[in-house]
Amino acid sequence: MGYKTLCFGLFLILFAYYSYIPMPENIEERWKIQFLDAGMKMLSFMAKMFENLGLIKYEDVLSIFMRVLLTKPVSDENITVIDTDFSDIPVRLYLPKWKSERQRPAVIYIHGGAFTLGSCKIRSYDYLNRWTANKLDAVVVGLDYRLAPQYPFPTAFEDCVLVIKFFLQDTILEKYGVDPTRICISGDSSGGSLATAATQLLQNNPEYKDKIKAQALIYPALQFIDTLMPSHREYEHGPFLSREIGIKLAHLYVTEDIALHQAMQRNEHMPQGSRHLFKFVNWSDFLPEKYKKNHVYNEPTLGKLNVFYPALMDSRLSPLLASDSQLQSLPLTYILTCEHDVLRDEGLIYITRLRNVGVQVAHDHIEEGIHGVMSLIAMPYNLQLGLKVGEKYISWLEKNL
Ligand SMILES: *[C@@H]1O[C@H](CO)[C@@H](O)[C@H](O)[C@H]1NC(C)=O
Ligand SMILES: *[C@@H]1O[C@H](CO)[C@@H](O)[C@H](O)[C@H]1NC(C)=O
Repeated sequence: MGYKTLCFGLFLILFAYYSYIPMPENIEERWKIQFLDAGMKMLSFMAKMFENLGLIKYEDVLSIFMRVLLTKPVSDENITVIDTDFSDIPVRLYLPKWKSERQRPAVIYIHGGAFTLGSCKIRSYDYLNRWTANKLDAVVVGLDYRLAPQYPFPTAFEDCVLVIKFFLQDTILEKYGVDPTRICISGDSSGGSLATAATQLLQNNPEYKDKIKAQALIYPALQFIDTLMPSHREYEHGPFLSREIGIKLAHLYVTEDIALHQAMQRNEHMPQGSRHLFKFVNWSDFLPEKYKKNHVYNEPTLGKLNVFYPALMDSRLSPLLASDSQLQSLPLTYILTCEHDVLRDEGLIYITRLRNVGVQVAHDHIEEGIHGVMSLIAMPYNLQLGLKVGEKYISWLEKNL
């Protein structure tokens, strides 16, 4: 009894503490978001506690919670849903049932989760991909790339590329009735990073050039170089994704060594000899004035880590590192950014860099938007803000794919 009361008391105190984090004034369902945000931070706190006690790893606690949200492939009156694999990578296909005179467009969707969590089978992604298939009369492919830390860089990237290459084969496109001139690669958050890097690779490969009509990136994560951009500072505590949780999870894609996590927190993780890369991610050069506010650009400190991780200098990890000539040939691009997002500036910088070299970019900026809301659109959250973001994305696809 005493133990339970103590736990309950602790729960209330933590909840009150985490509910105190400031939330944007201008959003609908403010209380619901506040509640979800507090829940997320408590879960993270618990996971950290269990990890410190040596019971279970931080990311494993979070992934147990996610497992509850997985769905079976359930077909409905309009869409046949099938779990299968492409090149040995699990995929979930959404195939419209009605007869079509024309070949269909296709979307390959790469889910988010900081390279360590998530699945295309999670309720909200299942909802989004089904919705896309319905609204666009499109074939949609959700894919489950392997996750860190069990499968470190570049496994996730390579899995995504394998699936895309498999799907782009003439025989496969024909099998699913897909129009080879109307294919889009999409992704959110770390999935946006994977979509970006995969599109860069394929578009610069003569064999695949121009096979991708468009890329759609939802609040993408695009670099590991500088962890103190203005949005990293302003939205350090979230909502939803805090700078600390983001770094704690994402660094696992490079290594499980906590020293990298600590160095990234201090923005001191880049190796000697990497200074020439800063010009690709220098927010002072690429961020529109209104987002710079009174922030002062500080160069990340070099050479503090004892171990050299080549991944940190690799554009497959940080797609913002691609050179202008690699960006030049990229297809039609849609980028959605959210104001209240620790990763906001990474998307904004990519927009500037793409437009500077003449790539056509459509941009939606959601003023009351929050990182990760599109993975909270389905039960049990039913977040209106997530639906709003989903609607923007899908209506862009409807007009442009
Ligand atoms: C099937 O499509 C119709 C017409 O677009 C729509 O009204 C209906 O809600 C769809 N059913 C499901 C289960 O999504
Ligand atoms: C970053 O951009 C600012 C403003 O253009 C410039 O003064 C600075 O030298 C740049 N730093 C690096 C490392 O590229």
